[in-house]
Amino acid sequence: MAIKEILKMGHPLLQQVAKPVTEFNTPALDALILDMFETMAAFDGAGLAAPQIGESLRIVIFSVEANPRYPDVESIPRTILINPQITILDESREEGWEGCLSIPGLRGLVPRYQNIRYQGVDQTGEIIEREASGFHARVVQHEVDHLEGILYPQRIQDLRNFGFESALFPENKE
Ligand code: NI
Repeated sequence: MAIKEILKMGHPLLQQVAKPVTEFNTPALDALILDMFETMAAFDGAGLAAPQIGESLRIVIFSVEANPRYPDVESIPRTILINPQITILDESREEGWEGCLSIPGLRGLVPRYQNIRYQGVDQTGEIIEREASGFHARVVQHEVDHLEGILYPQRIQDLRNFGFESALFPENKE
């Protein structure tokens, strides 16, 4: 296991369409996923996509634990989602602030579908199928965008709503 370097916006690998995973239950896949979790934890992320650590494969992970300091943030189950597909359940969208470990220090206001179904498999090939809404749906859409080579600034509708976290939310300084 190792904490990997996270590629930053501008790196060409973050703009590629990632390749499907075709082999499951392999030591290489297990090792990659462990590295992803270790890296996400080290940088305090809610989610991570394999291309962010330089592997152009269709793998995302996400996990948000309930945190008493942020009572408004919903928890999201710790999930390994491989070869994911998203189905939009209705057209309703809402805007919310997003950040990304590949774009440190910045935040942007991004519209996302509120209600989705997502499917994929885990590292053993077991099928995962869930419906999600709100923040959970937002995190999944953000991570799956990474697999299409899309970063959240491309989704911002008004670039005035894109800036440094320290300037946008000075009250969050600790
Ligand atoms: Ni991201």
